Order: sequence, then C-alpha cells, then structure tokens
Amino acid sequence: MSQSTPLDSEDLPTNTSSNEHFQSVVNRAVSRRGFFKTGLGLSAAAFMSGGLSGCIIEVTPTPPKPLLGFTAIPTSTADTVVVAPGYTATVFAPWGTPLFSTGAGSTWAGDASEDAAAQARQVGDNHDGIHYFAIKGSEEGLLVMNHEYVNTRHLFTDGVSNSADDAYKAIHAHGVSVIHIKLKSGKWEIVIDSQYNRRITGDTPMLITGPAAGDALMKTSADASGTLVRGTLNNCGNGYTPWGTYLTCEENFNQYFGTLSGSDSRSVAQKRYGLNAQRTGYGWENYVDRFDYAKEPNEANRFGWMVEIDPFDALSTPKKRTALGRIKHENAAYALTKNNRVVVYMGDDQANDYIYKFVSDGAYIKGNARANANLLDAGKLYVARFDNGSVTGDFMGTGEWILLDKTANATLAADASFASQAEVLIHTRLAADAVGATKMDRPEWVTVHPSTGEVYVTLTNNSGRSVTDDANPRTANRYGQIVRWRETGGDAAATTFEWDIFVLAGNPNVYPDRSNLYSGSDNITVDNTFNSPDGLAFDDAGRLWIQTDGNYSNSGEYAGQGNNQMLCADPTTKEIRRFFTGPKECEITGVTFTPDSKTMFINIQHPGEGGNSNWPEGGSARPRSATIIITKNDGGVIGS
Ligand code: FEO
Ligand code: CA
Ligand code: CA
Repeated sequence: MSQSTPLDSEDLPTNTSSNEHFQSVVNRAVSRRGFFKTGLGLSAAAFMSGGLSGCIIEVTPTPPKPLLGFTAIPTSTADTVVVAPGYTATVFAPWGTPLFSTGAGSTWAGDASEDAAAQARQVGDNHDGIHYFAIKGSEEGLLVMNHEYVNTRHLFTDGVSNSADDAYKAIHAHGVSVIHIKLKSGKWEIVIDSQYNRRITGDTPMLITGPAAGDALMKTSADASGTLVRGTLNNCGNGYTPWGTYLTCEENFNQYFGTLSGSDSRSVAQKRYGLNAQRTGYGWENYVDRFDYAKEPNEANRFGWMVEIDPFDALSTPKKRTALGRIKHENAAYALTKNNRVVVYMGDDQANDYIYKFVSDGAYIKGNARANANLLDAGKLYVARFDNGSVTGDFMGTGEWILLDKTANATLAADASFASQAEVLIHTRLAADAVGATKMDRPEWVTVHPSTGEVYVTLTNNSGRSVTDDANPRTANRYGQIVRWRETGGDAAATTFEWDIFVLAGNPNVYPDRSNLYSGSDNITVDNTFNSPDGLAFDDAGRLWIQTDGNYSNSGEYAGQGNNQMLCADPTTKEIRRFFTGPKECEITGVTFTPDSKTMFINIQHPGEGGNSNWPEGGSARPRSATIIITKNDGGVIGS
C-alpha cells in the first residue's frame, strides 16, 4: 500500500527556470528607501522575468489576469473566523475528534474528560503543519497534520496536569494525525474506521536513521542501539516529498526536558538547545524518567529532528532523518536540483538562529519507490550566511551556503569539540555557530516558488535584536520580515545566492512616518498591516500565502492589527491583501490545497490560549484548535 501513492504526478518545483542573467544585472545603486518604493529590486525583477540581457523586447498588449482576485478584508477582534467575500470557511476535525467508532476515544464528551488512552486515538491538540495527499484527486485523500503542543488549561477538565495519566494524555495529544477524508454531497467528511486513520504521538515507536543513528550520544538506558526512540514532539510546520511522504518537524523539544535533581547540570550543548535548568512546565519528568536529563542525558538528543512518515501505510515506522540536522525545525520545503537531487530548505526558529539546506547525494527517480525511500539519509547539510553585497543598507546582497561537514569544512575539521560528523549533526547549532552563519530574526517557514525556484522565508520577529545587518535590518524587531533568495544559476544545489527583502512588516498606524523602518516597507499599508509572519506557502499559481502568529493585543505597537490572520501576496508586484482573520488568541498556521486548488485547508491553533475564547462552538464551550476548510462559493480556485 505504501508504494501505491498517486503523488508522483504532483507538480514539482523543479527550479529550472532560466535565470543565468540575474547575477550580471545586479544594481547596487538604488537607495535604501528607493528600493522599497520601486517594488522589486532589479536583480529580483530580472529573475522573475527570466533575465534581461539578450532579450528581444516584444510588446504584448494584453495584460495578464491579476494574480490576486479577491477583495481584501479588514482586521478583526471578534471570536470568529472571517474570510474574504465570496468564500466559505468551515470548521473541520477539531481537537478530540474521534477517528474510530469503537474502543477508546470513540466519543467526545466536550468537557475534556477523555483519558490518555482516548486521546491516543483522537485528533490531537494545537493543529499546525498540514498536507493533503490525494487518493482520488480532489475528492478523496489523506489529511495529515501536526499537533505541536498542548494547552494544559483546556486539555484537562480541571485545567491542571497532576497525574501520570495526565502526562500521557498530553504526550498523546502531540504528534501527527492521518485522517482519511472524502467529499460527500459537496461536504468533506472523515472516513471513520478507515485503514488509513492513524495517530502518531509522543510515544509512538520510531527509527533513528542517517549518520547520527547509533552514535554514543544517541544511546539511552532503554535503547542501547541508539536507533529506537519513542515519539515525536513539538511538531510544528511540515513538509512533503515528491515520493509521497510527509515530513513533520520537531521544533521546541527542549520544553519537555528538565530535572527533578534540584540542580542545573546541563552541558554546553543542552544549554544551547535550551533544556530547562530544573523542572519543566509540563512536568512529565515527574512520571517519565526519560524526560529528566539528569537521569537520561541523551534522550533529548533524540528530538529536534526531521521525521519522515509514509501516510499511506498505517503500520509503517516513522523515521528521524539525522542527515538534516538537529535544530528547532520549523518546516521543510523541497526543491530538485538540475540533476534531480533533493534539496530541503529549513529554518531554526529561535532569535538569532539560522537557515539551512540539505542536498541529497542520490537523485530522485520518479516512480521508483526503492530509489527514493532513503534519499534523506545521505547528503550535505549547509547553513546560510547573508552578506551585504556591495552596498550596505539596501536590503539586498549575496550569500553563501556553508557546508557543515567534519572533514570538508576546515573550521569543523580543526574543532575538537566535534568528534565526528554524527556530532556535527547532533549539535548542528554549535557547528553553525563555529562557521559564522548569519544570525536571523527567528526563521520560520520556507517555501519555494512553483516555477522560478525562488525561495522565501518568514523571519517572524526578534524584539531583542541589538545589532543589525541587511537581512535583519531593525533593532527591537517586533514585526518581522520576509526574505527571499535566488540560487546561483537557478540551481538549488548552488553554494551561493542573491537575496533581497520581499516585505518588512510594520505598523503605519503607529509609525505614520514612512521613512521609519517600523512603518514597514512600501507594500505595507494601514489596510494590510500585520506582525509576525510565520506560516508561508506558494500555491500552484504562484500566490504567496502568509500566516501570522503574532501579538493580537490590537494595542500599543500592534494597534489596528487585530487577531492573527492570513494574507496573500503577488510575488511580482509585491501587493499584499488580507484574506482571512482568526478567532481570539489564536495563530493561523499550516496550509495545503486539493490538486485542483479549489479547496484550501488551514489550521487555527490555540484559540483562547489566554482564556478568552470559546471558538468554535461558542457559548461556554472550551476552545479547540481545528482545521478550516475554505472554498470559493462559485467553485473557483482559491485566491483567484
Ligand atoms: Fe512552531 Fe516557530 O512555530
Ligand atoms: Ca546590501
Ligand atoms: Ca510556526
């Protein structure tokens, strides 16, 4: 069953557009504000049009249909979802939804009285990354989604975790849901009891694969082999592969590790990754020894990885792919090199952390399941350095991918703190520190343009920044920005690139002086202002969907920005319009489409995290994270 996926027919971002010329047309003469006022930087404009030199100019009088076809909506502070006129938003698969008709978890009481065993068979909490895998085109498929963490105040009837069963209920509310869905009379339904339905949790057995598997730093008292681990945790954003697998990204795994020992015995690496000095907020270490780093110092080394899941085989074992490094993984965006090797772009979501890419040694071969099965186990891992280029202060420049290899990188070869490539991967952050990568404003989602191969990343915010550079140009950055880059020669395998800032988010309500960088770049207005871009994805037509996870106070620095939201941008004109607003105290995250682009799935995470929402049921109901299905009332393509 696992090899019968129809996904090889999906359009791939092959990164093959011609952009040989963009390097030669770099214009460093534009002024800082001039760059924003002219829209695209010249190098970016040339890239989007396939280059300038050698072109014969022919006038094409018919203007293309605008990419953004919907009417923008205002901000909202209401405890509901609002979508652009002419669209419908429907709640789907909220936390606690049963996937099976019998046994534990087959009913939902509404008062959070389900126990750990029930939670292990119901949809998890805090929906995040999501992907639709087609079974029958746009009518039937697998909806696979992450459950990042838990809202303790809502997960338990009394709002507190104070037993071993509570700890395991929380562990089971993490992970991934695989949900078989089907259109029935125009309405999406869950196929209850489907052979595909599956919960993967913080306790599901999985394999550790790749260069760090079996290393001494991966061994625990429960696993002398260093290759078997229970569970995946803090599953934030996601990715998918052209061979039909799902990638779930382990982000803030550090939150689950602390100690009851009463003292702080953390190593340099454990501090760099942010393990708790003593007790954790979750308190799992009270009941499960492996979460106490003093008892099991290597257990945390088995989290922070990219996990590959075959959604079409409910009996398959998820694999932690150590070749992709150990960071606080946000999401994964793939591209193919000119010779069909697989590239995975990744952000490490922490203030002043880095952007990475993995390039596989082997080539993807369409339809050859055996050849593709372990492509993510061998390859090169790089970290990005963003340079100013020839002009400082113009928000564009050049960059380099620095190879994190114990043998080939002279800095790492000479550094005795890394005994092997396995240790470089287990302590990826320390290796990136050593080679001088650029400290970014919290890298979140990465996405690849479907035809140009240009890569975009959200840098969500960094209020503590005190030293700026061109890619991270503001101290006390509360609003965030989106940076994009173009690989040299249009090849995702390149080790150099050019970059520019697509948008500096800002707030013209608070900073009406447009020369103030906190007012945002010129594609930010009082109508589309937002803070903290996070989720990010291109649709097949090249619309850039931007989701926010920011401050929703609607006051002070954030006045007039309302609840978290989803916007849509045209990458060529840089226009941005607000498409959707979420309920109170939520974030909007995760986005995927059916192959016909007529159904969009997004997630509402942690509504009412501060205790001020009853969404989606309303009344006095406890709030629940949920998926939203968006359709266009005329049956058209979303965003058109
Ligand atoms: Fe889980 Fe960085 O968002
Ligand atoms: Ca520059
Ligand atoms: Ca996120």
